[in-house]
Amino acid sequence: SKAITVPALFALREKGEKITMLTAYDASFAALMDMCGVETLLVGDSLGMVCQGHNSTLPVTIDDVAYHTASVARGNKTALLLADMPFGTYATPEQAFANALKLIQAGAQMVKIEGGAWVVDTVRFLVEREIPVCAHLGLTPQSVHRFGGYKVQGKTAEAAKQLKDDALALQAAGASLLILEAIPASLGKEVTDILTMPTIGIGAGPDCSGQVLVMHDFIGVFPGKKARFVKNFMEGQTSIEGAVRAYIREVKEGTFPAPEHCF
Ligand code: KIV
Ligand code: NA
Repeated sequence: SKAITVPALFALREKGEKITMLTAYDASFAALMDMCGVETLLVGDSLGMVCQGHNSTLPVTIDDVAYHTASVARGNKTALLLADMPFGTYATPEQAFANALKLIQAGAQMVKIEGGAWVVDTVRFLVEREIPVCAHLGLTPQSVHRFGGYKVQGKTAEAAKQLKDDALALQAAGASLLILEAIPASLGKEVTDILTMPTIGIGAGPDCSGQVLVMHDFIGVFPGKKARFVKNFMEGQTSIEGAVRAYIREVKEGTFPAPEHCF
């Protein structure tokens, strides 16, 4: 099948077809997910938790993400490949460009950056230099110390307004995709409705333009506490391929996320 591009994701949003994303960290899982038809693969800095065993994403380095990105790129054929910019690798626009370049050279087609107003200039700087950017708002895991834990965000009227303002500013700066993590489903819908770029939710309700799950969560192998938004797609399946296909089907049909996965 044809390689998935940024315009292809906008076209899916335009025609109301949900976009699927999964995280991947190695060539074999990437090849399987791609073969099943997942449109986008993310080499998340969640690798610090699910692969390296840290209790946050903060220790992950750019070389860690570049290593896994190169592995995923070898397994992937058609999915759009995103890679996360780790904590402390985008404190200035110039630093962000130098680090994003490593991920692009490893095979990423888009980089993902957590944060609102403070990253807007960095997003513009990267996009002007032809590096597509995915923004990430809501429960940004790199903010864990400020949040005091992995807590649902955007619950007050003020926080919801801030998130919407940030989303519009990131879009105006040239972001082409937005991850929304752990926010009320109603806010996930509102943010999606005010934007033209697609939104990808994880615990952000069924009205985002698409959904993402961490690989280890969706096949039920992560030993930590299970977040409300996680569903183990191995249930009722006899293979990981079956689980990937069930995930894609449920996202496309709009049956995942169900109310019990939402805030
Ligand atoms: O690191 C990651 O896997 C992520 C997704 C959960 C969006 O950022
Ligand atoms: Na991440």
